Amino acid sequence: MRDLATLTRQALDEVAASATLAALEEVRIRWLGKKGLLTDYLKSLGELPAADRPIAGAQINAAKTQVQSAIGVAQDALESASIEAKLVAGRIDVTLSGRGEARGSVHPVTRARLRIERIFRHSGFEVAAGPEIEDDFHNFKALNIPADHPARAMHDTFYFPDGRLLRTHTSPVQIRELKKGRLPLAMIMPGRVYRCDYDMTHSPMFHQVEGLVVDENVSFANLKATLEGFLRAFFERDLKMRLRPSYFPFTEPSAEVDMSCAFCDGAGCRVCKHTGWLEIAGCGMVHPHVFAAAGVDGERYTGYAFGMGIERLAMLRYGVSDLRLFFESDLRFLKQFGAV
Ligand code: PHE
Repeated sequence: MRDLATLTRQALDEVAASATLAALEEVRIRWLGKKGLLTDYLKSLGELPAADRPIAGAQINAAKTQVQSAIGVAQDALESASIEAKLVAGRIDVTLSGRGEARGSVHPVTRARLRIERIFRHSGFEVAAGPEIEDDFHNFKALNIPADHPARAMHDTFYFPDGRLLRTHTSPVQIRELKKGRLPLAMIMPGRVYRCDYDMTHSPMFHQVEGLVVDENVSFANLKATLEGFLRAFFERDLKMRLRPSYFPFTEPSAEVDMSCAFCDGAGCRVCKHTGWLEIAGCGMVHPHVFAAAGVDGERYTGYAFGMGIERLAMLRYGVSDLRLFFESDLRFLKQFGAV
């Protein structure tokens, strides 16, 4: 039995020396496994005289239990040490200062559109929208532009093979809203429009905002007051406005709206082609043919309409002298525009 004491001490030393859970497992297998050294020892009991067996058996079992519990204690210690190590390695220093977030900015055209919408909403206008892919009826015919009308040449239209087209202005939304038959109405209709046109001052896609007010006794004076009030609110500076007689098939009488050039204060420069004025909108009183096409009683109702170029308004408001900057996606340009 002196052997047993030596073996036990040796096993306990090995347990104590195990630095990892894997090493500890190897020690357990070597001593307590099926073919382990202490297990073998127990099996050799058969060689002892029968009288000695019970005592020897009890001693061997006690030794096994002792080694077993030493392994258990060591295992607990190694496991909590490894958890501790993981916690230390994964520690986050919440006191470090943050990296900060880069904030995006709103595109100047969007920014101008939101500003326009806010101003008109304040005076009781609703905001509506229509489809960018239109049919001939809404874009032309219902707006008093029949198939052979020379005004069609003013619109270099993108057609689809089936005859549909990319709307050339936001005026077709007038028809769609009038057809709903909810009168009186006061609304603006902003959106993209398309013309087959590309040079210094024209882009094949640009933005318009349509305005439409229909009620009993709506007058041209109301139209002029609305435009003046809007422009004062939009520009917050003393720019002059003038109306020039003009022609649109869907309004009668019609006018074009000019603003004194914001770049030269009316003195004349490259942007305004040395006239001191910039055209920003077309307008007029809704033509009776338009009311008829949309099913509105033109005897009872009158109305005015206007269509403004949003890029033009944005150029004047933000001092952008080249229209193309809006479509080049140059971050150095776009970053100059903050939140609305
Ligand atoms: N639709 C016209 C254009 O695109 C503008 C306009 C709108 C004129 C409403 C009069 C009334 O040029």
